Amino acid sequence: MMGTMSERNYPRVTTALPGPKSQEIFDRQSKVFYTQMQQGDMCPFILDRKTDDELLHDVDGNSFANHISAWGASPYGAFPPSVREATIAAWDRYGMEISCFIQSPPVTELAERLVALAPGKLTRVAPTVTGTEAVEGAIKLAREATGRPMILAFLGQYHGESTYLAQSTSTELSVNTSNAGVYAPGIVFAPYPSAYRTPFAKGAGPHDDTVVIDYIEHWLLRHQVEASQIAGVLIEPIAGELGVYAPSQGFWDGLNRLCREHGWLLICDEVQSGMGRSGPVWAGDLWGLEPDLLLVGKGFSAGGQPMAAIIGTDAVMADTPVHTTGTYVWEPAAIAGALAGLDLLEPAMANAMELERIGREVLTPLIERHERIGDVRQYGSWAAIEFVTDKESKTPDTESQFAFHRAALRRGVFAISAPEKWVYRMQPALTMDPELFRWSCERLVEAADEVLG
Ligand SMILES: Cc1ncc(COP(=O)(O)O)c(C=O)c1O
Repeated sequence: MMGTMSERNYPRVTTALPGPKSQEIFDRQSKVFYTQMQQGDMCPFILDRKTDDELLHDVDGNSFANHISAWGASPYGAFPPSVREATIAAWDRYGMEISCFIQSPPVTELAERLVALAPGKLTRVAPTVTGTEAVEGAIKLAREATGRPMILAFLGQYHGESTYLAQSTSTELSVNTSNAGVYAPGIVFAPYPSAYRTPFAKGAGPHDDTVVIDYIEHWLLRHQVEASQIAGVLIEPIAGELGVYAPSQGFWDGLNRLCREHGWLLICDEVQSGMGRSGPVWAGDLWGLEPDLLLVGKGFSAGGQPMAAIIGTDAVMADTPVHTTGTYVWEPAAIAGALAGLDLLEPAMANAMELERIGREVLTPLIERHERIGDVRQYGSWAAIEFVTDKESKTPDTESQFAFHRAALRRGVFAISAPEKWVYRMQPALTMDPELFRWSCERLVEAADEVLG
């Protein structure tokens, strides 16, 4: 159980990373896995077990504060007891079942609860297993509902790695298949809007991100695609993989206007930003968004079994011939876990706001303290530290970012980083003990001082 400050265990790293036992498994791994399963640079340890005090323990006896939470899929800690019990009980009762064909009562109950939680005019649910499938299903639904072929998306967003999405999303060219020169048809892009970083303005900023609306209106729609060909706008209300960037209210006002004027569906990918991750239930609530399609995954699974969904309007989903289901959608055990998770959401969101407060207090001053820290962003239990060579040019500083990650790891703080990224990202469980979060932030300040002087 969560301890008080004096009782709680703090991370301890006593070996070089990787430690010898981890290294032995990494050596074996390099012979059997394809390259993308060899993540030893970013995660230089092999997990032995997790404990419900938010620590990850490696096979060499080191422990780390868990600021990854299964990439957001364990929002209530490693072993929320109610999720565990419900998951096991459902498996004992139903085993595995094809829930789009043989339906037990909880299938409908979960859809009802999801609709009750959803914003605005969303009334219908299509179950999927993964976020990737939710995005692909939403694109199919939008095209079918409007009879239009094109989707407007934003450079730098991440939506998944299926062949279609890998060829049509753009987080990094290296993780999709564009290196092979194959691009999916039917997608046009604008830059992701943010006050910190835009290709349309130089200097420290903050910048007016409504320039992206101008670009869509006066460039894209004039020179690249007819507005009447666009079925919908696919957007992450907060762009997670890109580095936790968020648009301004002005941008959303402009986008809503374009959607109204041209009959575009607003498709919000909240697979990562939703279910309390960003503060409110949906990141879109920060700007009063009323999407036509909303995609949910990760935190929706509550740390139980894989679980994702498309939530949509009657207009798009009440009478559609489109299928998004499959053998494994909404397994009974996954449904039970997700239902139990929904009961945990509200108190978890209250805790996440405490994490946001601590992050702002301890991490935000890093901007003043270091020329190479350009920005710190914190939304609920989501934090991002952006490394730049200098505040004026904002040239991404991948080297400092990755050195910072290594320095943080040596202190027992494990969050999301990669050698090619310049934004370091924390996404702990919404329920992380605020003391452990504060302790971690303080270690990050030390790590920044070590790396940046
Ligand atoms: C915004 C967003 N959409 C979609 C996905 C894909 O979800 P999944 O990994 O469950 O397929 C992710 C995963 O990180 C995501 O962050």
